[in-house]
Amino acid sequence: MQESMNMEKGVDRGQGRSYRGVLARVGPGRDTWRWLGQQLFNRENPAMYFDPLLESINPLWAQRYIPARVEAIEAETHDSKTLTLRPARRWGGFRAGQHLNLEVEKDGRWYSRPFSLSCSPSHWEQDGTITVTIKKVADGEVTPWLLEHFEPGDVIGISRAYGEDHTPEPGRPMLFITGGSGITPVLSQLEAMADRHLRNPVTLLYFVRTDADVIGGRKLEALAERLPNLELRIVAAEQDPQNPDHLGPHHLQAVEGLTERDCFLCGPPGLMKHAQNLLADAGVPEEQVSSTLFAVGPGVVVTEDAGGTVYFTRSGLSAESSGDRRLLEEAEAAGLNPRYGCRMGICHQCSCRKTSGIVINQQTGQPSGHGEETIQLCINVPQGAVELDL
Ligand SMILES: Cc1cc2nc3c(=O)[nH]c(=O)nc-3n(C[C@H](O)[C@H](O)[C@H](O)COP(=O)(O)OP(=O)(O)OC[C@H]3O[C@@H](n4cnc5c(N)ncnc54)[C@H](O)[C@@H]3O)c2cc1C
Ligand code: FES
Repeated sequence: MQESMNMEKGVDRGQGRSYRGVLARVGPGRDTWRWLGQQLFNRENPAMYFDPLLESINPLWAQRYIPARVEAIEAETHDSKTLTLRPARRWGGFRAGQHLNLEVEKDGRWYSRPFSLSCSPSHWEQDGTITVTIKKVADGEVTPWLLEHFEPGDVIGISRAYGEDHTPEPGRPMLFITGGSGITPVLSQLEAMADRHLRNPVTLLYFVRTDADVIGGRKLEALAERLPNLELRIVAAEQDPQNPDHLGPHHLQAVEGLTERDCFLCGPPGLMKHAQNLLADAGVPEEQVSSTLFAVGPGVVVTEDAGGTVYFTRSGLSAESSGDRRLLEEAEAAGLNPRYGCRMGICHQCSCRKTSGIVINQQTGQPSGHGEETIQLCINVPQGAVELDL
């Protein structure tokens, strides 16, 4: 109840409205709701069952997601925009380099898509806002619609923040290598450094196709003013098609003290893999390199002996898997609605208890043990009969 009240106070801060009286009538505590939801509707919270009614009264009362009001929308490039959001107070905040899922209903179907926070945590702490910066995937289901559909004043759904905390440490020299929209968590990290007045030597190698594709250009300029030790190198790799300048050893050779640096990579899988190989060749220790992929990498392992019966023990359903669909998709095809976020093994929101049987991790090709353990539904396929607590 306290949470719901805070939610309204958070979103309506400064607008002078309060729904406290109405929300105070919501009775049982969060654990009770969760237990009931799982038992009755396979949902974290059965109040979600009443969402259509609640949303028709006030969109901020929805339970299936955390509501956030769109405060502003700013164009970054021809195909990307930054949304400033004011989440409900119960949202809980984030650390630099983390992500959230936007939860949107399009044509009667719910979609969940991961995006990184593109501002420093101080925005949330000081004025209750956050930003996400979204680049359109031309043939994408959600991003083209999302960038056209929302206007300031609308309410959008978000998940809690997840992913590794990449708050920069004081003193350590750093190298960021990013491509395209992979700049977004780096904007958060650099801004967090500026807020803390850190003076680490930092080089940012930011690869874009052309000068017109620079995302976060205004913010980077402002950060260069605030971070005297920031060396900003934006490479428009295809500006001159006759003479492209993609990431190569020459870019790394120009980074002073490269092998001493903590390296953070973010962007499309191809660029990340290439950067990892170049850094290894240049002698940067593996433990100094961390990466965030912005899409599923190639390396999905196909296993011949995959497949078997999947028993969803809590709901009493089952599915015959031929091994070509991951457990998340099997569950959805069986009519279940398990929780998920990125659908690519990053966020752990799809974690589920396997009570027996073997599953194969399709990203590594590694089989699990036979016994009880927590697995990620979105990256595993069964190998023989499997029982899931779902
Ligand atoms: C942890 C994480 C953080 C992310 N943060 C950001 C961010 O801050 N800003 C941002 O713009 N994007 C970010 N992304 C990528 C973003 O989630 C996807 O671009 C988005 O989900 C695509 O949704 P869609 O429905 O439009 O495309 P879909 O309908 O899901 O995909 C359509 C087609 O595009 C391909 N595709 C999907 N995503 C990409 C991609 N990124 N690049 C190239 N091809 C792709 C798919 O394989 C498919 O063929 C992040 C991804 C992850 C995993
Ligand atoms: S949905 Fe994110 S790890 Fe499975």
